[in-house]
Amino acid sequence: MATIPAQRYDVKDLKLAADGQRMIEWAAQEMPVLQQIRERFKREQPLKGQRLAACLHVTTETANLAITLKAGGADLVLCASNPLSTTDAAAASLVQHHGIGVFAIKGEDNDTYYRHIAAALTHRPTMTMDDGADLVAALHKDRTELIGDVIGGTEETTTGVIRLRSMAEHKVLRYPIVAVNEAMTKHFFDNRYGTGQSTIDGIIRATNVLLAGKVFVVCGYGWCGRGLSMRARGMGAHVIVTEVDPVRALEAVMDGYRVMPIAQAAREGDLFVTVTGDINVVDEAHLKAMKSGAILANSGHFNDEINLSALDGMAESVRTIRPSLEEYRLRDGRKLFVLGEGRLVNLAAAEGHPAAVMDMSFANQALSAEYLVLHARELQPRVYPVPDEIDREIARLKLAAMHITIDSLTTEQKEYLSGWESGTR
Ligand code: ADE
Repeated sequence: MATIPAQRYDVKDLKLAADGQRMIEWAAQEMPVLQQIRERFKREQPLKGQRLAACLHVTTETANLAITLKAGGADLVLCASNPLSTTDAAAASLVQHHGIGVFAIKGEDNDTYYRHIAAALTHRPTMTMDDGADLVAALHKDRTELIGDVIGGTEETTTGVIRLRSMAEHKVLRYPIVAVNEAMTKHFFDNRYGTGQSTIDGIIRATNVLLAGKVFVVCGYGWCGRGLSMRARGMGAHVIVTEVDPVRALEAVMDGYRVMPIAQAAREGDLFVTVTGDINVVDEAHLKAMKSGAILANSGHFNDEINLSALDGMAESVRTIRPSLEEYRLRDGRKLFVLGEGRLVNLAAAEGHPAAVMDMSFANQALSAEYLVLHARELQPRVYPVPDEIDREIARLKLAAMHITIDSLTTEQKEYLSGWESGTR
């Protein structure tokens, strides 16, 4: 048991710690790659001397990452990357059993959310780990005097990477960032199978509706949209995809979905889920066209994909029906339902992606942090990909943990692939 001063944490209730510890151990069973990294980190201490501020969804999987980073020598604090995504028991256990400062309470208001980010920055980080770039933005806006100490940072999600690239283009980014999201072992699995399963999980936990036979509109056909469409179809829903990118739209058509503009889909859908990373994808005109009873959710990073202020303006009254489910009674007599306040439904109404995919995402985080310690001095204040060797090593370790072996190229095949002489025979 580790004790830390009260000013170094703000969690819901330390009495939840024992439950949290059991849940963290349960998640660890599905995180063999991260476990192996933890064992090596314990021996080699690659993060020794680093003060790390991490702004992540504080879940049982993130707890396993935090324990790994601490095992590697990092002096770590953690704050929430979304007001609704914290698992309070995991946060309590990190403080109580692992001596890690956590600033995160599920359901915290926006002021508390930003106060928690500010508290994490008082740690005077030498490294940042972010999910959505709110921590990096706060550091660059409010605590510029601390930036000189920071060697680099990592970013977990698509939205954060886009934001950080924009900071780099505007020449405001002051240190290098490794874009964990862009590792193949991250987005192919976490964004696709993780979002696919956990979004359906969130919708079902919040509503308990039958998906079979429903018209399920997926806005956005990136990796998250692909995974979600696949899983919604698997549950028997009729999936409609909306897109703005012609190649992705074509892919959705050839994957067998109906593709149409949101203005048309709005009239047909029973459920709508946004996964675009953009603003007002479901806008006032679309809300006006929807059938009474339609259910709206968002699984993109920020809560601005559905125009909730327009919906508020259309509503006569709003009431909570059950946890994570709000009914908007509109002045025209229709009812629309919103899940998890339009925040990430998979974390607001469920527990986020399963541990087996977070294993790879967080292995990328841990190894990218180690990479920054070794190489940050050679890097510019730009956004960098995860090195290919790290990505492939994680895939190898995951396959090995799953007891799956694969073939390797013969010498003859390697030579063939590197030559050009041999063609049609
Ligand atoms: N993002 C999505 N799912 C997550 C999880 N289970 N833990 C941390 N971050 C996540």
